Amino acid sequence: SSTPYLRVTPSMLKNQTGRKGKDAWMGLNGKVYNITPYAEYHPGGIPELLRGAGKDATKLFGEVHPWVNYDTMLSACLVGLLVDEPEGTE
Ligand code: HEM
Repeated sequence: SSTPYLRVTPSMLKNQTGRKGKDAWMGLNGKVYNITPYAEYHPGGIPELLRGAGKDATKLFGEVHPWVNYDTMLSACLVGLLVDEPEGTE
């Protein structure tokens, strides 16, 4: 059987900015990654990477380096799937 993915809502993602002692998560093309273990290796530096923390950074990522294969690089850092906020909570 397949591994069930954690379903991450935008409001959950918003709390994962890398501040307040919490890991930094990033939404990219429907998936959410924990980018904290990768941060020190990011060629563009930590502050630049964290511009995309706590949100869906698909567009920003694509503007900076669409050729980078983040899905392979972050496969061990996959948190779950980015889903819509449940009805009535927006
Ligand atoms: C390089 C920004 C997310 C991997 C860079 C550079 C910038 C940047 C400005 C250029 C550094 C330089 O040449 O001096 C960002 C921003 C991100 C982001 C704003 C958030 C949306 C990521 C992620 C990964 C990644 C999630 C991979 C998991 C890389 C790699 C390079 C790079 C491999 C070198 C690319 C090359 O030279 O062809 N990034 N980055 N970045 N970043 Fe990011």
